[in-house]
Amino acid sequence: MNHRRALRAAVTIAVTGALAAGMTMTLTSTASAGTTLRASAAEKGRYFGAAVATGKLSTSVYATILNREFNSVVAENEMKWDATEPQQGRFSYTGGDRLVSHAQANGMSVRGHALLWHQQQPGWAQGMSGSALRNAAINHVTQVATHFRGKIHSWDVVNEAFADGGSGGRRDSNLQRTGNDWIEAAFRAARAADPGAKLCYNDYNTDGINAKSTGIYNMVRDFKSRGVPIDCVGFQSHLGTSLAGDYQANLQRFADLGVDVQITELDVMTGGNQANIFGAVTRACMNVSRCTGITVWGVRDCDSWRGSDNALLFDCNGNKKAAYTNVLNALNAGPAIPTDPPTDPPTDPPTDPPTTPPPGTGGCSASVSLNSWTGGFVATVKVTAGSAGTNGWNVGVTLASGASVTNTWSATASGSTGTVRFTNVDYNGRLGAGQVTEFGFQGTGSGAGITPTCTAS
Ligand code: XIL
Repeated sequence: MNHRRALRAAVTIAVTGALAAGMTMTLTSTASAGTTLRASAAEKGRYFGAAVATGKLSTSVYATILNREFNSVVAENEMKWDATEPQQGRFSYTGGDRLVSHAQANGMSVRGHALLWHQQQPGWAQGMSGSALRNAAINHVTQVATHFRGKIHSWDVVNEAFADGGSGGRRDSNLQRTGNDWIEAAFRAARAADPGAKLCYNDYNTDGINAKSTGIYNMVRDFKSRGVPIDCVGFQSHLGTSLAGDYQANLQRFADLGVDVQITELDVMTGGNQANIFGAVTRACMNVSRCTGITVWGVRDCDSWRGSDNALLFDCNGNKKAAYTNVLNALNAGPAIPTDPPTDPPTDPPTDPPTTPPPGTGGCSASVSLNSWTGGFVATVKVTAGSAGTNGWNVGVTLASGASVTNTWSATASGSTGTVRFTNVDYNGRLGAGQVTEFGFQGTGSGAGITPTCTAS
């Protein structure tokens, strides 16, 4: 009894801080507030998603709620390793493809979940180890990301690789035993296969600043400093009856590393605080400009993997719960993502300080940020449109002798040695005056002396 009261008091304190933080926002809520989660999130430049089992799409209550309220979906199980490669080298995309077509027909983006994970591996992979497993895993990443290329907003490239408890280290698994670099190898393979998808690391028990989230934070910081392609971190947020007081601060410290953050599997234990916690999580995301979307892990309470926890936003009859109202209000009250996407913070300066050449006669300018190591480099190139804007652009670089481009994202490369030209892809060629876009490439040899020149069309 005393114990329960103490617990409740602790929960109240934790949630109150977050509630207070959102209070002023509520007052600025406008009359044009959206009336569905998807509309309200979209007004703020974000998505609101749900985990889906495609078998339920034929249930009309389910499909009605999904299509009305959500503009992003993720397969609850159908894009996992056991589902997509049940036998080695034999791929099965039936469920995943069905979800993608449903999303495309209903104006939804798709999160891909998950390329590599220690759970839900097919039996054949569970029994493998060493280089055979490493090769099989990288092949899996390449094949699946290639199949869905261009259709996935964000991929959970690696799921749940860190240990619980105080160590802050990696979890033991067959994948981990192939070598500590398995995660970066997976990210590089995913980037090569689908350069347009945002690549995320996803985990749970990371709902605040703790040993596990700090271990992940250190990995992301290391990846950014070495040019390993990572774009986002997913916070599963399977929550109990309280929310860490530093939930938002934790999201923010990751965002400050120069990655997007996403709430990827939100569900909350039922009880007095459920609605408050759903609201507080939503406000935390809204208050972090690089928090680009929220996904709840299912539609109705009865769809949840958490059984009797009644952990979601709709009851089993499809009625909106109090938690739904809190989430909707928090979306409507929150600030929009700034239209100018935040650039990497000053704590993570590019090796070459970005010069901002005048929007010259070519109508665009380019600057490069280089991460080099012995024998290789990754170049991130920022293209800025001149005063007339661009319909397309082309960036030329001359590589040092012996250097060659091995992989390019968000641009198409002509050639790989000597003078290489990078042309925009279809979604990033058209820029307004002063607008900025980025592409990148990876190379072997030395990246020394790369000076990009930009031509606009
Ligand atoms: C769960 C699904 O919801 C269940 O249907 C399945 O039986 C097990 O996996 N973290 C994750 C998700 O990343 O993939 C898990 O999904 C829930 C925990």
